[in-house]
Amino acid sequence: MPPRILVTGAAGQIGSELVAALRKRYGGDTVVATDKAATRAQVSAGVLEQLDVMHLSSVERAMKSHRIDTVYHLAAILSATGEANPDLAWDVNMDGLKNILDAASRQGVRRIFWPSSIGVFGPDAPKALAPQDAALNPTTMYGVTKVAGELLCAYYSHKHGLDVRSVRFPGLISSEARPGGGTTDYAVEIFYSALQTGRYACFLSEGTVLPMMYMPDALRAAVTLMEADPSDVTLHTGYNVGAMSFSAGELAAEIRNHLPGFQVTFAPDSRQAIADSWPRSVDDSAARRDWGWREEFDLKAMTSDMLTRLAQRLGTGQKTFNTAGGPRRKR
Ligand code: NAD
Ligand code: SER
Repeated sequence: MPPRILVTGAAGQIGSELVAALRKRYGGDTVVATDKAATRAQVSAGVLEQLDVMHLSSVERAMKSHRIDTVYHLAAILSATGEANPDLAWDVNMDGLKNILDAASRQGVRRIFWPSSIGVFGPDAPKALAPQDAALNPTTMYGVTKVAGELLCAYYSHKHGLDVRSVRFPGLISSEARPGGGTTDYAVEIFYSALQTGRYACFLSEGTVLPMMYMPDALRAAVTLMEADPSDVTLHTGYNVGAMSFSAGELAAEIRNHLPGFQVTFAPDSRQAIADSWPRSVDDSAARRDWGWREEFDLKAMTSDMLTRLAQRLGTGQKTFNTAGGPRRKR
């Protein structure tokens, strides 16, 4: 029997692609896409309902009426928006998650995916290969909600037997939906500017290095973890998952390999402090050991694929951006 899936925050950067991937994998009828505010154009064909995760009774009603057994809980406030509005970040990220966990416990939901983030780390964590069990002392409200959220998920796992699974996603790069207010948004915006205007003013400094991942890898990480045998999942907080790390300058240079006239300037704003508090890379050996995590895209492969897909979607002319002789995928 395929799972009966509820996705919250389905119109966001991850949800708009995850819903399509889940419908392709398990069947269109098995996935109920929900968001506080969503238009049909943002979500692939199939059931789409308005659902505010702040309303416990509505969440519970949705789970009951669709006989949901699996939830991908994506509704959240991201780091930059969260720093501008910490009360909102606390309310949506904490109350929203607790509502999902409470409703799921009562409605017999079997398994939940909830993404954590590199935002759990603070300035005192090692910058290179931040360990799975590093001290988690974030200096952003977003990070505070992710650390508290991880602990809440682990609590519901051991106290209520809910099978909650999570990864600490790095910054995600994708061609379908614009990012929703994070510190890593520059790594998506830069592609739009490269194709549409040929110039970009980056809000992080040229040398800022952060862990990043291309959306196809992120979707595969989520589904692989959710399909893993329960005996293989030893962590119910959040698994570190890595894919690539690059500086803003290195990304600009890689895009320039395809679009030589592309001009980038660097004017760091308040988001620089958030980026500076995060590691440059993470040690994801626990995810590799437990459920076989393995990324496919590196900087080169991601950039050519991203430019090709985005150019097609935006109708900007050039059809492919493959690097001569280079692999499309890392492995
Ligand atoms: P996003 O901002 O693009 O989308 C979030 C969606 O949630 C939006 O469509 C919004 O309308 C919806 N939403 C907000 N408040 C809501 C509410 N009260 N009820 C219902 N829906 C509501 O975010 P995303 O990038 O898709 O991120 C999804 C999850 O993944 C979040 O938990 C985020 O912290 C995590 N994550 C994302 C990244 C990334 O780079 N995108 C990296 C690490 C972790
Ligand atoms: N991409 C996310 C952000 O910048 C990381 O969790 O908020």
